[in-house]
Amino acid sequence: MKPRILMILSAIFLALSPVSLGADRPAIAATPPMGWNSWNKFGCNVSEDLIRQIADAMVTSGMKDAGYQYVVIDDCWQVERDATGNIVPDPKRFPSGMKALADYVHSKGLKFGLYSDAGTKTCAGRPGGRGYEFQDARQYAAWGVDYLKYDWCSTTTQDAPSSYALMRAALDATGRPIVFSLCEWGTAKPWLWGKGVGNLWRTTGDIQDRWEGKQEWSPGNCCNYGMLAILDIQVGLESYAGPGHWNDPDMLEVGNGGMSTDEYRAHFSLWSILAAPLIAGNDIRTMTPEIHDILTNKEVIAVNQDPLGMQGRRVRKDGDLEVWAKPLQDGSRAVILLNRATDAKEITVSWLDLGYPAHLNAAVRDLWQGKELGQAKGTFSAKVGPHSVVVVTIKP
Ligand code: GLA
Repeated sequence: MKPRILMILSAIFLALSPVSLGADRPAIAATPPMGWNSWNKFGCNVSEDLIRQIADAMVTSGMKDAGYQYVVIDDCWQVERDATGNIVPDPKRFPSGMKALADYVHSKGLKFGLYSDAGTKTCAGRPGGRGYEFQDARQYAAWGVDYLKYDWCSTTTQDAPSSYALMRAALDATGRPIVFSLCEWGTAKPWLWGKGVGNLWRTTGDIQDRWEGKQEWSPGNCCNYGMLAILDIQVGLESYAGPGHWNDPDMLEVGNGGMSTDEYRAHFSLWSILAAPLIAGNDIRTMTPEIHDILTNKEVIAVNQDPLGMQGRRVRKDGDLEVWAKPLQDGSRAVILLNRATDAKEITVSWLDLGYPAHLNAAVRDLWQGKELGQAKGTFSAKVGPHSVVVVTIKP
């Protein structure tokens, strides 16, 4: 064979081989995953009735149309292993079994997710995946699972990168594309090794439904975090995120009752500019119109889902006043003016902080108001309410 033909043939082979497909897994989670997870609102109180109703509500509420896709059951769906080691769903809460439930979720045009754990037990003490990785992965694929969140409780001396790589290999062996969510809480710095293993990795302990602050898990053992405390931990991690592999500052608390509407709007905006997975964690069957309008705002979601896949960063901090910016594929910037203070403040973003020359004219659009604000040159300023954000795009 002529060397040129050989080169072309081997290039085609390499491009199609599972190794190159597996390396970055660009087809899966090419933009931050969007969905719903049971934990933040329902904890262990999960059942097939709840999940069916949530799947229905995803469609009827417009969440599906807004881009939410995955319906994920967190901890407590599993009760034991049978004599051959198969994981057993709670027969009282899931009497029809997981395959039937996954089929129902799929029939709504949505995708189905489950939770397990890399250790011997989940965080709620249910059977973990340790030692059963390939058997569980085959079972999940047979049920039709599209998303697996994998926690880190009861792992004692296990090594995080190799434990997660083992489950990755098990998922790959099934041949089913399954989004893999590493829930290691950031302890072993998953942003350094998570790309190519998971599609998203938690960067912190669990979120709490409050504006700020943190609470130790046990004395000397840190922490669960309020929304702003999680936000601060994201600074410096920006460059590790990209298509197929995202930093995960934990699921949304929007609508769970612990924050004001303005605070929830800030929470949602900040998660959007961080290119964070948007996993709703509220009861979407009964949400108020205000919460619905936050979770389904198409322009803010478009910032999160921008195909360039760059995580936004804090470009200015002046005490309680912050400016966050995210480059978008069309060359514009999404910008958040964040006021952490308890009284209204004027906040200014300078073009120089956005990487634009000061003399540039740019169109400013307010995304929450859905309104063009006209042209600006060099800077843009807005009055921002207490514990609030103003979100704009700035387009040269
Ligand atoms: C850990 C995780 C949470 C949730 C619970 C379930 O705390 O970080 O997101 O999955 O376990 O027990």
